[in-house]
Amino acid sequence: MMPFDPSALRADFPILSREIDGKPLVYLDNGATTQKPTRVIDALARFFSHENANIHRGIHSLSRDATDAYDRAREYIKERLALPESHELVFVRGTTEAVNLAAHGLAGDLREGDEIVLTLMEHHANFVPWQVLAERTGAVLRFAGVLADGSLDLEQWRSLFGPRTRIAAFVHVSNVLGTVNPVSEMTAFARERGVLSFVDGAQALPHGPVDLAAVGADFYAFSGHKVYGPDGIGVLCGPRDKLDAMPPYETGGDMIERVTVSGSTYRRAPERFEAGTPNISGAIGLAEAFRYLEDIDWEGARAHETELLAHATGELTKMDGIRVFGTTPEKAAILSYHYAAAHPHDVGTILDTEGVAIRVGHHCAQPLMEHLGVPSTARASFAFYNNHEDVETFLRAMRKVERFFA
Ligand code: ALA
Repeated sequence: MMPFDPSALRADFPILSREIDGKPLVYLDNGATTQKPTRVIDALARFFSHENANIHRGIHSLSRDATDAYDRAREYIKERLALPESHELVFVRGTTEAVNLAAHGLAGDLREGDEIVLTLMEHHANFVPWQVLAERTGAVLRFAGVLADGSLDLEQWRSLFGPRTRIAAFVHVSNVLGTVNPVSEMTAFARERGVLSFVDGAQALPHGPVDLAAVGADFYAFSGHKVYGPDGIGVLCGPRDKLDAMPPYETGGDMIERVTVSGSTYRRAPERFEAGTPNISGAIGLAEAFRYLEDIDWEGARAHETELLAHATGELTKMDGIRVFGTTPEKAAILSYHYAAAHPHDVGTILDTEGVAIRVGHHCAQPLMEHLGVPSTARASFAFYNNHEDVETFLRAMRKVERFFA
């Protein structure tokens, strides 16, 4: 493995040499989606140029090749995640579909009055499906709060567990606050009480490998496009016995055992949850992204991202009227802030004129926004390919915002 060298890695991402209206692109919207290395782009082109065929259906060579590539992609990703033998990996469209699938499948486990523990820092994807599940089953939602520094109120979270608690769903890394939750500790706490844990890992994997054996979650989900892979592909990991006992989320081809006019029987996971032609190229592209990430010195990459975050936060907070959300020492490189003199949308628009891409809005976390007392924030989110020059351009653009609204 090569020692971490951000400029060498940056060259792997062709889009980063783009210009926006004659200015170099400064891409700080990695929380929304990450850019793709040439290896992933080439893997997709290679698949469509050499292997494209439908899988699990053809006896011709091309179909066998495509089937092998799809199946290998799953096995490789499982290995990289250190997925326990007891678990299976289902390909889904993304984290949102993963949560919907699990919430749909777990309905049969819930009775009226059972409880689901959530947190106020969840993305809507790990919030609304549980809310709908509660409406369908008569289950009750309990919410853990967020402390002033953006960390989860763990003491309160623990106190929410009672004899009727069945499911605890929580985010690994907050997409707004950057807070890294102590997921292993949390899954262990749930497990000891016989409570199923569901972890939304969408913002964790972009910042380094995740060892699912160590995390210890029952269910863990993430999206391919946030982890330097293609969009429209994601992963749901779950206990094999639980998945096999869950009703299918969608029905159709490839997920059945036998279909007769009087009824159908279904395959086990993962095929049980992969009805129809799956996103074959997406799975292959995602495995290539994992192969690319395997060669990165993550200790160096994490230290680099932490420096970028400290640089940006330190200088930004020197400006009058800046409020930063999420200040825990252990946080991912996500900087959400509010500038008193301007609406976040104006901030984002002015930054765009300097080629700086950030996200503004409620970040699909309205309960958290309400808790923070703001309708929206501006958010700069970093990846290992960003550099200190990106931070300087971002800060110069923020000074332009300041001059404009002074
Ligand atoms: N969930 C993505 C974000 O936080 C889209 O921006």
